[in-house]
Amino acid sequence: MYHNWEELERSIIGCKACKLCQNRTNIVFADGNKNADVMLIGEGPGADEDRIGIPFVGKAGQLMDKAFEGLRIDRSKLYIANIVKCRPPNNRVPEKEEAEACLNYLRNQVILVRPQIIVLMGSTALKNILGQEYGITSARGKWIQKKEILYMPTWHPAALLRDDTKKIEFWKDFKKIKEMAEEKKINILKEI
Ligand code: URA
Repeated sequence: MYHNWEELERSIIGCKACKLCQNRTNIVFADGNKNADVMLIGEGPGADEDRIGIPFVGKAGQLMDKAFEGLRIDRSKLYIANIVKCRPPNNRVPEKEEAEACLNYLRNQVILVRPQIIVLMGSTALKNILGQEYGITSARGKWIQKKEILYMPTWHPAALLRDDTKKIEFWKDFKKIKEMAEEKKINILKEI
């Protein structure tokens, strides 16, 4: 456990904790506000993220940004990270050992950010954070309280690319997140 960002960020440089290090261009650590009250967790970097070093900048990320625009959510007010920080080959689901090797970084990020709300985007985020017994189809859209944190599982933005129903559900889930943020006096909205 590192007690500050500088130490944590230094500790990941050149990470060789799993085999995903072999093909990476960049370690994709996070994006957004380190003091955010709302944190988003995805699966792992794709090709664009690996090239640029920032999470959710590719097609799926752009679709997510479009939803945020419609909901007037300010991406820069959120903290965005992934289960694994290096790109799995051909965007496959991270293997158990890869996720486990990377989870300590994510746990440390959660401890330093101290979010009130964590959005789990997709099955990989849900299962690795809340447990393998959870399924995204039944868990999505419902709040789960664990210790001090409220979790909202939702679809992974990449799933929206193939399915319009999921687009609507993703939008509804973020509307709930927006309402909860408002109730908790958390500001995640774009200033007008
Ligand atoms: N998919 C993810 O899960 N994370 C990213 O950063 C990009 C795509």
